[in-house]
Amino acid sequence: MLPDSVRDAIGELLESSPDPVEDIDRSLTWLRVVFSALPIDLLQGILDFGRHADTAGVALVRNLPVDPELPMTPVNGEPSPLKRTFVAEGVLLGLSQLLGEPVGITTEKAGRLVHDVVPVSTGATSQTNQSSAAFLNFHSDIVFDEFGRFDLPNPDFLVLNCLRQDRNREAVTYYADARDVVGDLPADVEQTLRTPQFRLNAPGSYVRDHAGGAAVLSDPIAIISGPPSAPGIVVSANGVVGLTVEADTALAQLQRSCRAVAHEVRLERGTALLINNRKGLHARSQFLAQHDGHDRWLQRTYLRRSLWDIRYRSAADSRRVH
Ligand SMILES: [Fe+2]
Repeated sequence: MLPDSVRDAIGELLESSPDPVEDIDRSLTWLRVVFSALPIDLLQGILDFGRHADTAGVALVRNLPVDPELPMTPVNGEPSPLKRTFVAEGVLLGLSQLLGEPVGITTEKAGRLVHDVVPVSTGATSQTNQSSAAFLNFHSDIVFDEFGRFDLPNPDFLVLNCLRQDRNREAVTYYADARDVVGDLPADVEQTLRTPQFRLNAPGSYVRDHAGGAAVLSDPIAIISGPPSAPGIVVSANGVVGLTVEADTALAQLQRSCRAVAHEVRLERGTALLINNRKGLHARSQFLAQHDGHDRWLQRTYLRRSLWDIRYRSAADSRRVH
């Protein structure tokens, strides 16, 4: 939680600054200076969250600066043309780069670095960030990749900054830490999830925009991997295909265990959620959306600890878009 004085000092600087994505590397450099005003315990907590295997998989930062005036929530998932100040964007990117490098993915939100996550009427019941009328199952954010692995070029972290809470304050974000999930799973189910008999379906946005709605499956992979003290976990929101009956049974048990152990939070204006995309799975409840400019509005970044391992995907015209 930021002290009020720090919140106000950072907010004042951000209010008079232009859209940070226009000259992103310069903006990130300046935001590094701005966010050095965080109290050292808070700053170290965020840095440790990003760099160590044994820290929590989810963290909430509260009392962040907000834009003095917020326009209507966009209804189409695109950035709002009416937004005149860029406090939220500065907060999002300033916090994000404490964890890693912001990246854009060409097949997700057109490669933008700041994603506007809002309910979109045409995707209301989909397993995507456009949904509202459906429980968004426990998943990781994955990225389509022509080499067949959707769990390797995907973000290490995501950050969600809340600009506007949903009108009935019913939207809950869940996080199930893989360490807790493994503790809840029967041993034989964990063992099944550790064998490569699962194929991830590409993100709903990719399937919709690039594959005419047909499933696009990854190579077979394991859902859980790594040492018991720090397991990694991956699940695609748009469906995982088990290659055996046993695998499908294990997936159903996995969702139940996630619900049993999950932390939950209702994101409010001025709060941001830091999510480790490898240590656990996240989910979201249903909530009421009316697509009238007053709906829930989050902004999101995707982060990599290093851009090196995804350089083969690099877009010709941008160092941060892959
Ligand atoms: Fe997600």
